[in-house]
Parts: sequence; C-alpha cells; structure tokens
Amino acid sequence: MTIAVRYFTRTGNTRRLAEGVAAALGVAAESVEAGLSEKTEAVFLCNSVYAAGVDDAVKAFIADNKDKIGTLYNLSTAALLTSSYKMVRKLAEENGVTLSEKEFHCRGQFGPLHANRPTAADIRNAADFAKGVLV
Ligand SMILES: Cc1cc2nc3c(=O)[nH]c(=O)nc-3n(C[C@H](O)[C@H](O)[C@H](O)COP(=O)(O)O)c2cc1C
Repeated sequence: MTIAVRYFTRTGNTRRLAEGVAAALGVAAESVEAGLSEKTEAVFLCNSVYAAGVDDAVKAFIADNKDKIGTLYNLSTAALLTSSYKMVRKLAEENGVTLSEKEFHCRGQFGPLHANRPTAADIRNAADFAKGVLV
C-alpha cells in the first residue's frame, strides 16, 4: 500500500505529531509543500487551526494533489477547537477528494495554553490511529 504523511506547521507541534506517525508507518514526514509525486492510497494530512481556519498551504495541497490522493486522513492539533475536520471536509468536498470519517485530534501548545502538547502519549495515540485505519 502506498502511504504518505504530509504536514503543515507554524510552531512545530504538528511536525512532531507527523514525524511520530511517519516513523510508525515506516515513511518520511514531509511538508505539504512537497506535494505528492505519485498516486498515493493513504495520505495522512497533519494540520492545525490558525485564526479559526487552516493555512492556505493546506488548501493548496488538497487542490494541487486531488488526483493523487486515494483516501485522505485528517490529523489535527489546536488550542481551542476540537478538530480541523470540518474545514478539511469542506476542502475535500470542493476538490472531489475522499476523506475518511476517521480522524485524530489532540491539543497543541499555544503560548501558555496546553504546555508540552502534543505529549509523547499524544504522538503514540496518533501513530496508533494511523496504524489502526490501515488494518
Ligand atoms: C497564529 C496562531 C493562531 C491560532 N489560532 C487558533 C484558533 O483560532 N483556534 C485554535 O483552536 N487554536 C489556534 N491556535 C493554536 C494552534 O492551533 C496550536 O498551537 C497548534 O498546535 C499549532 O500547530 P503548529 O505548532 O504545528 O503550528 C493558533 C496558533 C497560532 C500560532
């Protein structure tokens, strides 16, 4: 099965999550800016919420790679919202991309809020989520 882990990060939280997921799946975590070089069956998109939205780079990744994404899996971190899923679902629908109903979310540190999140346990849970959806 072809698998990719892509992330967008501003302060490092989501990159750490993506790296843990990628290591568990035996692939490299790359920035969304790397895009996808080939049709990929399972794409784990690790992203976050900024000012109640997702970054333009995440929007561009979905639009630019829509023909290469088999199934998209959303993994997010945020300080206040409990997921970026609805935002990513809208983007997936607009681009005709299949988004799994299964998602992963955990808190991400934002200034004094949620210190050290994602924790090692959060990252383990994200890796278990990713392995679990591939079974
Ligand atoms: C500029 C900025 C704006 C943010 N806005 C929100 C927000 O509107 N809602 C929210 O739940 N979290 C918000 N956060 C918190 C981030 O979603 C959280 O810290 C996340 O883990 C950041 O991921 P990153 O370190 O990979 O960039 C914001 C963080 C930053 C830096």
